[in-house]
Amino acid sequence: MRNLQDMDLSVDFCGVKFLNPFILASAPPTTTGSMIGRAFKAGWAGAVTKTLLIDASTITNVTPRLASLGLKGQAADAKINYALENIELVTDRDLALWLKEIEDLRKKFPDNVVIASIMDDASEPKGWQRLARQCEEAGAGMIELNMSCPHGMPERGMGSAIGQDLDLAQRVTNWVAEAVDIPVIAKMTPNVTDVGLVAKACVDAGANAISATNTVAAIVGVDLETLSPLPSVSGYSAQGGLSGPAIKPIALKAVASIAEATDVPISGIGGITTWEDAAEFILLGASTLQICTAVMMHGYSIIDNLLDGLGGFMKRKGFANISDMVGISLEKLVPLGELDTKTRRIAHIDNGTCIQCDACFISCRDGGYQAVTRGSDKVYRVTEKLCSGCALCMQVCPVSGCITMGPKS
Ligand SMILES: Cc1cc2nc3c(=O)[nH]c(=O)nc-3n(C[C@H](O)[C@H](O)[C@H](O)COP(=O)(O)O)c2cc1C
Repeated sequence: MRNLQDMDLSVDFCGVKFLNPFILASAPPTTTGSMIGRAFKAGWAGAVTKTLLIDASTITNVTPRLASLGLKGQAADAKINYALENIELVTDRDLALWLKEIEDLRKKFPDNVVIASIMDDASEPKGWQRLARQCEEAGAGMIELNMSCPHGMPERGMGSAIGQDLDLAQRVTNWVAEAVDIPVIAKMTPNVTDVGLVAKACVDAGANAISATNTVAAIVGVDLETLSPLPSVSGYSAQGGLSGPAIKPIALKAVASIAEATDVPISGIGGITTWEDAAEFILLGASTLQICTAVMMHGYSIIDNLLDGLGGFMKRKGFANISDMVGISLEKLVPLGELDTKTRRIAHIDNGTCIQCDACFISCRDGGYQAVTRGSDKVYRVTEKLCSGCALCMQVCPVSGCITMGPKS
């Protein structure tokens, strides 16, 4: 394994051992068994299959089915905060083929975990239970319930049409939990008012773990020449699901809410790209991490940096293993009313490193408290009695460390 830090990154997730916390999310990087096999060889501990259906012949994907925000025309190292929208459906590959591939993966990679993602409608238990049992027999280590896909499938009474309805979510979870002995993960949609409530309902119905989240329902933009929303399919589009770094804050909040509402293991998903992202999800309650978009952009080999970076962080911070780290930051997340209102801070501008771009001055003038002034000598000053300490100037300043928040003098 490329954990150069020699740290133990293994995780016990519902009694299933993962060599490290990194799992491929159900998505294009897990389209076939052979792709999953290559990812295992590269160092990924587990993979969630692209979502399986009883009858994949009902699935026909449109082209194109991806559109993005902040990706096109940007240098690779500037792609920090992008979002990817997709209107892709679940797998269009035959169930029998998938079952054979799960069986082969089990034999070839006994130390890696294949999680079977499954989907059906909520009208009766038969389909869900058959899918779950067949995947268990084929050698899947866990089942993930896709009750969260926001596009296409809800029109057929599947995906987020189930995860947005407490009764349906509970019903489906219960059917599957009763049908198999392997652990069942319920995958949440972020498109609900209280994701903690849905997660708790699924746990009450028998889910052994929660994964969060699926994509965020979205429309990434409109082509101003053709007037078609994006991605444009012969001039028309449909609402899709947003993934990638832009949804990380939504997913982090979901993980924290679920950690507070339940006591089952959580698999964090949403925008994880770097080891720093991974560490943040673990600190807010996730014990495994699923990744899709970052792999679509950069390939399976990102696992090397993820393992090495996370191992190095744990060593530096004195965490002996992942479980020592899980949820540590939750105790620092309190109701807003409990935050310190006594300590007052104001902005301090270091005119030595300032590049005189005016960003702080303009923001404070038109979006703040008119505390930043610009002298005729182009020196920026903060009027102490006007500065409310909001930190807007610090957010807009392009020079790292130039503006800091400190005590009033
Ligand atoms: C093109 C595409 C296809 C996806 N297909 C599935 C799917 O079949 N089943 C599923 O549960 N999630 C699916 N997802 C959602 C991902 O598993 C994941 O929850 C989401 O992309 C957020 O993670 P990320 O920001 O790391 O991509 C898909 C995502 C993308 C981008």
